[in-house]
Amino acid sequence: MPSPTATTILLSADRIRQRIEGMAAQIEQDYAHVDHLHLVCVLKGGVMFLTDLVRTMTRPLTLDFIALSSYGQSTSSSGEVKLLKDLDTPISGRDVIIIEDIVDTGLTLMYLQDILRARTPRSLRTACLLSKPSRRTVDVKVEYIGFEIEDRFVVGYGLDFDQRFRNLPYIAALDEVP
Ligand code: IMP
Repeated sequence: MPSPTATTILLSADRIRQRIEGMAAQIEQDYAHVDHLHLVCVLKGGVMFLTDLVRTMTRPLTLDFIALSSYGQSTSSSGEVKLLKDLDTPISGRDVIIIEDIVDTGLTLMYLQDILRARTPRSLRTACLLSKPSRRTVDVKVEYIGFEIEDRFVVGYGLDFDQRFRNLPYIAALDEVP
C-alpha cells in the first residue's frame, strides 16, 4: 500500500502566522468589554492554532481542552461524534470560545456547540482555522474563520491523517490517500 505524502503546500507557515495574529486582534477587540475569556480547545487538531492564537493575546484568559472522536484512518467523517475527554472545569456563566482546527461537514462542531450550550455559558462562539464550505451538511455557526479552502484533505499545523503530519509547520494537501 503506498504511503501518503504531503508535499503540496496550500498555506505557508508565514501566512498562517499572519492570519492568526489578525484573528487574535479581532477576538480581543470583540471581547474588549469582557473581563475574562475562556478558550476551549478541541484536541488534538486545535492545539497549534490555540497556542499561536493565545501567544499574541494580552487579556486575561483561561484554557481547557476537550476531545471528540475523529476519523481514524479514514479521510471522511462517519457522521457519528463521541465525547472522548470532557472539560476539567464548568463553563456556566463564562465567555467561551471553541478553538477548532477545521469545520468540514459541521457535524462535530454542531454536536460540541449543543453540549456546551446546555452548560449555560454566558456566551459561546467558535473559531476555526480552516473551513471547507462546499462540504457543509449542517448549518453550524462559526464566528471566526481563518481560511476557506476547497474540498481537499489537508494535513499539518495540528491536522493529521491517521495521527501523522501534525508537526508540519504549514498546511498541505495529502497527495496520495490509500
Ligand atoms: P466535520 O464533523 O465533518 O466538520 O469534521 C470535523 C473534524 O474532522 C475536524 O475536527 C478534523 O478533526 C477532521 N477533519 C475534517 N477535514 C479534515 C482534513 O482535511 N484534514 C484533517 N482532518 C480533517
